[in-house]
Amino acid sequence: MVRITIIIVFTTAFPQHQSTSESLPFDLFEAIADLKQELNAVILAHYYQEPDIQDVADHIGDSLGLSRQAAATDADVIVFAGVHFMAETAKILNPHKLVLLPDLNAGCSLADTCPPKEFAAFKAARTDHLVVSYINCTAEIKAMSDIICTSSNAVKIINQIPEEQPIIFAPDRNLGRYVMHQTGRELELWQGSCIVHETFSEKQLVQLKMQYPEAEVIAHPECEAPVLRHASYIGSTSSLLKYCQQSPNQEFIVATEPGIIHQMRKAAPEKRFLPAPSTNYCACNECPHMRLNTLEKLYLAMKNRKPEITMPEETRVAALQPIQRMLEMSV
Ligand code: 13P
Ligand code: SF4
Repeated sequence: MVRITIIIVFTTAFPQHQSTSESLPFDLFEAIADLKQELNAVILAHYYQEPDIQDVADHIGDSLGLSRQAAATDADVIVFAGVHFMAETAKILNPHKLVLLPDLNAGCSLADTCPPKEFAAFKAARTDHLVVSYINCTAEIKAMSDIICTSSNAVKIINQIPEEQPIIFAPDRNLGRYVMHQTGRELELWQGSCIVHETFSEKQLVQLKMQYPEAEVIAHPECEAPVLRHASYIGSTSSLLKYCQQSPNQEFIVATEPGIIHQMRKAAPEKRFLPAPSTNYCACNECPHMRLNTLEKLYLAMKNRKPEITMPEETRVAALQPIQRMLEMSV
């Protein structure tokens, strides 16, 4: 009897995994590079994007780094491979540029925990407070804020505010608690959180640590306190990347979205990076919003020049001030 084995290889160059009615070019990487030239576009990508997207990006960064890139670019088109609030920030800074988001449904669970109407009431009950909002919020929340911050400058920004000034910190309670601990300041916290960073299990983390006793735990401040207390380093995505490059340690347990591990492995291929385990070992540590973007959608967004980020001009102007304040306060 003759046995015939057929092996089908799926590659990114000929993507099969996404159903789309539009035809796709054979080599998406080349097609995206051509469109980038044609549109005079810049591709900005967050570290939580799938590796292929990170590899076609002109700049990869954390929220602060990407905001700075967006503020400085002279490209005509910004293709934002990240989530909605990030692309929205780019649009707030660049009202006359076309800002594309590969999938308009790429939202943020944390931003969703802070609805504008409820937040307006929370703020109205505390009229003497200054509002510092984490960038992971909608343009409407930004428009109600005095200063925006990110995970990489939150401590620095709070430290610049006079001690007697009461502060509302929104929307992330975990980052807020971490900032309170770092600054010794009392903050009025909005009780929002991120589903991805709250999925890490302290129990499973301790078990993994027993398996890899030499591994250093590094964590994003959006994680809950029981996870953060095991971390020898806490910081934004870009600072976690920098830290593991500089640390003499060879093994790391990474408590944030595992997309960042792509850059960690590229930067230090000799080191071992283990994603921190989620409760029940599900893949819930992958951000379901970030992962809605695919290389195929990125190509189609550039080809069709949509989906585009838009917002009322009044909201944009009101949201611009606190973002500019952040950029000034974090130089
Ligand atoms: P960073 O600014 O640290 O990259 O964080 C963005 C984010 O969404 C974390 O969940
Ligand atoms: Fe939002 Fe969390 Fe995803 Fe970051 S990881 S974009 S905070 S849902």
